[in-house]
Amino acid sequence: MPTEPLLDTYDRVADDLRISVTDRCNFRCVYCMPEEGLDWLNKAKLLTFEEIVRVAAVFVGLGIKTIRLTGGEPTLRRDLPLLVGMLRDIDLNIDLAMTTNGFLLDQLAKPLAEAGLRRINVSVDSLMRHRFSEITRRDALDQVMKGLQAAEAAGLAPIKLNCVVVRGTNDDELVDFARLSRETGYEIRFIEFMPLDADRRWRKEMVVSLSEIVDRIGSSFPLEKINNGVEPATLWRFADGAPGSVGVIPSVSSPFCDSCNRLRITADGQMRTCLFSIVETDLRAIVRRGGTDDDLAEAIKAAVWKKEAGHRINEEDFVRPERSMSMIGG
Ligand code: GTP
Ligand code: 5AD
Ligand code: SF4
Repeated sequence: MPTEPLLDTYDRVADDLRISVTDRCNFRCVYCMPEEGLDWLNKAKLLTFEEIVRVAAVFVGLGIKTIRLTGGEPTLRRDLPLLVGMLRDIDLNIDLAMTTNGFLLDQLAKPLAEAGLRRINVSVDSLMRHRFSEITRRDALDQVMKGLQAAEAAGLAPIKLNCVVVRGTNDDELVDFARLSRETGYEIRFIEFMPLDADRRWRKEMVVSLSEIVDRIGSSFPLEKINNGVEPATLWRFADGAPGSVGVIPSVSSPFCDSCNRLRITADGQMRTCLFSIVETDLRAIVRRGGTDDDLAEAIKAAVWKKEAGHRINEEDFVRPERSMSMIGG
């Protein structure tokens, strides 16, 4: 198995793989999915567990250190703990994580942790029940909160909450989220809204920028910047030493593409080198035509070599990818 790092032409090393295990979701977040009318992938198109693990093992051989399961909603994939156990068996040192809406965590946190999942990021866009159900189109805040408790009890740590901030929708809750972080120790990450919503309603004016988020929280709770490594979130701690932290993922106001270490596989086995890729590499076809691990490794290396410089959201000639967030895996 090859061991040299996965390098691109901009000297970035890819060591973080996001694997979407289903395109289905039990929520319909307005910034992601349409209310209705999105066809699910046919089951035959989805990678099987064996195929996922085979491909993941090749990536690990090429230097991938973090594997994150995403969706749609990953917990909707039947027998997910089984897959987690199979991925854990590839290498005990992998940082194995999941991004979820939390709805099924009260049942699944324990079996997932026992199978080898280490940490989770959970989407929570409002702390008000009625608003949470308007944003997700599902009245589920209490259930998600129960899921967070189950995750804590199962030892999944750190727990990160993702809040997509949309101006005029939930930007009056920034300080309430910061207070929740101080009370629970959860790391709250505010995500700038990106043009990947299925309804295509995104407008630049709807984005609340990193500087505005930090100023607004800082006037209630003074913040100190944390020097974190290459992750997309820029992080702050509370100056008074309270637990928790707040972060911002500033994809629009301050893109972090020049340090991007991420690769993605969609549920139907297409490798993407950027959230905003408009080309994909068909790994499923290589697996299903009987290709070897070396064939997979060569295709992966070639795709990484062509990784885009970055997204062009702020450029005149920006082209939105065809697939929206729930189909890519966030
Ligand atoms: P860790 O930092 O490892 O905890 O994970 P993460 O923040 O990458 O994962 P998560 O799935 O919670 O993603 C949070 C938000 O960051 C989502 O809106 C993602 O789409 C966004 N994000 C993750 N990776 C990228 C990326 O490569 N580019 C951009 N622009 N956004 C990303
Ligand atoms: N812009 C920014 N973040 C988004 N997510 C989903 N759609 C968007 C969007 N249009 C986030 C979800 C989830 C993560 C995987 O992606 O909130 O936490
Ligand atoms: Fe489902 Fe996540 Fe999209 Fe919300 S953001 S609809 S939880 S895939």
